[in-house]
Parts: sequence; C-alpha cells; structure tokens
Amino acid sequence: MNARITVTSHNTPDNVMTNVDLEKLVDTSDEWIQSRTGIVQRHIVSDDEASSDISTRIAKSLIKKRGISPDQLDLIIVGTVTPDHFTPSTAALVQKNIGASNAWGFDLSAACSGFIYGLETGANFISSGKYNKVMVIGVDTMTSILDYQDRDTCVIFGDGGGGVILEPSNKKSGIVDSILRMDGSGGEYLIVPGGGSRIPSTEASVNSRQHYIKQDGKTVFKYAVKGMAEVSKKLLDRNNLSGDDIALFIPHQANKRIIDASAERCGISPDKVLINIDRYGNTTAGTIPIALNEAVSENQINDGDYVLLAAFGAGFTWGSMLIKWDSKWVK
Ligand code: UT7
Repeated sequence: MNARITVTSHNTPDNVMTNVDLEKLVDTSDEWIQSRTGIVQRHIVSDDEASSDISTRIAKSLIKKRGISPDQLDLIIVGTVTPDHFTPSTAALVQKNIGASNAWGFDLSAACSGFIYGLETGANFISSGKYNKVMVIGVDTMTSILDYQDRDTCVIFGDGGGGVILEPSNKKSGIVDSILRMDGSGGEYLIVPGGGSRIPSTEASVNSRQHYIKQDGKTVFKYAVKGMAEVSKKLLDRNNLSGDDIALFIPHQANKRIIDASAERCGISPDKVLINIDRYGNTTAGTIPIALNEAVSENQINDGDYVLLAAFGAGFTWGSMLIKWDSKWVK
C-alpha cells in the first residue's frame, strides 16, 4: 500500500527581514546576498514565537482543510532541528495544542532533510496498514540559532514550515519511491556545537558562541549539489523516467546556485523547478513543505503528475523522493 498526500499547508511568521535590514546588522550587501544565494528576504519569528507555534498553525490548517477532527490523527511527526525544548518534543506540544487525543508522535532530527525523512517514516507507518492518518510537519526557527555577528550564516536562513497529512492509497499513486542517505563524516561542516551532552550549556559555552550554527559553506555547497543530483538521477533511472517526465522538481531551498546545478545534472529544465528562496531564505526542514503547498495552492501540480523532491542538509543527510500526484483530497 502506498501513502499519498491528501492535504498540504504552510506557515511563516509575519515579520519580514530584508537583505537591506541585514546590511544594518552585519558587513554584507543586498547585491552580495542576491547574487550568491538568490535570497531577497526571509520571515523571522517575534520574541514570543517558537517552532511549536508555527507547527500548531500548520496542524490546525491541515485538519481544517482536510475536514477531519483532531482525534482522527494517528501519528504526528515533526522534522526540526530547532525544537522549543530538548524535551518535551515539538510533536507533543502540537498534539496538546490541537487536541489530537488519539495520536502519538515524535520529533525527527535530520536538518534540511527533516521533511523528506519524515515523509519516508510516515509513509512506512501508512504502508504497515495500522495507520490511516499521519501528519508530517517540517519546521525550523533558524533565527534561534543564528549568530548575527557571522555573515557566513546569518544572511541565508529564515523561519517557517509546512506540512501534509499522509493517508493510504490503494492505487499506484502517492509516494512511489525514495532514496535516503546519510554520511556522518560531513557532520563538522554544518554544526551547532553547544547545548547538547558534548558541550553542555555553561557561561563559557555561551560566551564562546557555541550555541550558534557554524557552516563551512563552500564544502557544504559542493556536497549538496553532488548529493542531491546523484540520488535524484538514480531515482529517475530506476523508475525508467527522465527529467522530461517530471512535472515539478521541488528541491531544498539553500542556495539558488545549488538548485540550478542540481536540476541541470538531472536533466530537468528550469521552468519545472520550484524556486521560492527569494522570499523565504533557507528554512531548513521547512523549505520543501512550504514550496509544495505553494505549488498546490497555485495549481502547479495536476493529477497523475510526477513530482520530485530533493534535500541536502547537516549530518550530512540527503535524499530524493518521487511522488505520483493524486489530488482527490488535496486542496
Ligand atoms: O541548507 C543546509 C545546507 N547549506 C547549504 O547548502 C549552503 C551551502 N553554501 C552556500 O550556499 C554558499 O557557500 C554560501 C552562500 C554560504 C557562501 O557563498 P560562497 O559563494 O561559497 O561564498 P564564500 O564563502 O566563498 O565567500 C566569498 C567571499 C569571501 O570574501 P573573499 O575571501 O573572497 O574576500 C567572503 O568573506 O564573500 C565573502 N562573504 C560575504 N560577503 C558579503 C561571505 N559571506 C558574505 C556576506 N556578505 N554575507
């Protein structure tokens, strides 16, 4: 049994920070950010907002759009590396906030691949035959781990997320195939060193800025293009498809140059590539579900279309997923 997406939604905080706003905080320029990344602006949380607030708005919207009651949900998976707390999980906070009295759930830590990892996990619960409605959310509040003294990182990330509900499909539609990968030897190139059991929070760890995200951008860039293109190409090949058969490619939005290079290597023409990094920046686990919901809302995906997702992120984690769209419930 396949799992199919029956509803999509996304949410971003109201506050917008433009590149020009960033010029006032750090030694950068709108010209540099746009030409090196494609980003024009990003949404950022207000002081009293966290990942569970964004997730709860997404969850409420998914339930309303699908026309179900919260107690019909079986499982809630939240892909995030910026949970409200180490514990309880963001999934538990969402469960409480929406009153999903029959659901259990957990957070899934796979950085920018969090949503695809979550979809794969949720789809397998559906395939087991025991679960009928699995909510998968990808969300990050990256500003909670951004160092506004580090121009290498603070200009590229934003806050937001999106989600879907997965349900069984007895047709050959829905999530038809996927390839997921991990290579922990890349861990040091994109890392939040402090706050865990390796470097617990102390005055010294805070003063030495260990709780912020650190990135070797050039190295990550190289592995991201190679990783996303390799798995996407392999996925197409083993399903006897070419780039021409894909109606829409929705890659993780980390850098427009990474997206362009990955799509080219997969033989997917630029008009079939969804790019919204200009408006949101890199929202980590949020990028793909935000883009997917925008595509659905703008009627860019039709019944029977092949949609290809691809992600790459810290860990390293990466993967690609092939979906044959079945829009019976999707709005
Ligand atoms: O989502 C998780 C995965 N993350 C990614 O996929 C991110 C991958 N990496 C990237 O997207 C890019 O590497 C960055 C956008 C982070 C950086 O772009 P780059 O083209 O690799 O720039 P760079 O680090 O090679 O820096 C080029 C120059 C340097 O100056 P010099 O040494 O040539 O004089 C930097 O100091 O640009 C400078 N620079 C900046 N200038 C203005 C670096 N950051 C900035 C900045 N504003 N924000």
